[in-house]
Amino acid sequence: MKQWSVRASVRTHVIATSSPAPRTLSTTIGELPLEEYRLPLNARTFAILHTGALLAHEDEHRFLSADQSLPYGIALWPASIAMAHALGTRDVRGQRILELGAGTGLPGIVAAARGASVVQTDRQEVALHLARINAERNGVTLEHRAADWTAWTDDTKFDCILGADVLYADGLHPHLRRIFEQNLAPGGTVLLSDPFRKDSFTFLEALAADGWAVTFDKWTVGVTPPPRPVGVFQLTR
Ligand SMILES: C[S@@+](CC[C@H](N)C(=O)[O-])C[C@H]1O[C@@H](n2cnc3c(N)ncnc32)[C@H](O)[C@@H]1O
Repeated sequence: MKQWSVRASVRTHVIATSSPAPRTLSTTIGELPLEEYRLPLNARTFAILHTGALLAHEDEHRFLSADQSLPYGIALWPASIAMAHALGTRDVRGQRILELGAGTGLPGIVAAARGASVVQTDRQEVALHLARINAERNGVTLEHRAADWTAWTDDTKFDCILGADVLYADGLHPHLRRIFEQNLAPGGTVLLSDPFRKDSFTFLEALAADGWAVTFDKWTVGVTPPPRPVGVFQLTR
């Protein structure tokens, strides 16, 4: 079995700030108040609308155990913040990037602002709608496509495939793996961020055993209470 290598230990602390809701999102389940997350990165600040930040374990637990939990994609997950920071350190200019499970769209928006040509996908129309609004608010142009990993037909090749917190359901792993194999251009990279979920490790270990080179950086998202460790895993063949 291939060994994983860790390229760096804790890289940074990220402070997530929320300001009062600037607007609401109209959905079939009603008007949802939006909050704004502002991320200063390199020379600019990204502003992302979302229905609630789920940074700590407790936030996530409360969200998942609520009677009527909202669509996952319109919340702000810590993996997207770690991925945004990771992209802020990479040269993605001119790369063709596919983002899976884009949700509110932060990583793809950062990549597009840094010169990549980005296709953001999600199966939830409401998430894609919010991702479109967020792209527009941040002055970037990218493409949005509704696409379900379980009924994937696209065979376009990309230099990089991004996924922030997309490994949480093991039943979806074979579908994701097929997309990596089908849509990654030769020499390309898959970047996955994940808050160290157990099932995600099992999946990444299986990929490593099958010859993928897996490295990761560990990021820490949020300051109080308590900070959440997130891995940004880089996979190459
Ligand atoms: C935990 S959320 C993460 C959202 C965003 N990447 C983030 O980190 O803030 C998982 C995302 O994957 C999307 N998703 C889940 N299953 C999917 C599937 N079968 N096909 C496409 N997208 C899917 C959800 O709609 C959601 O947007």
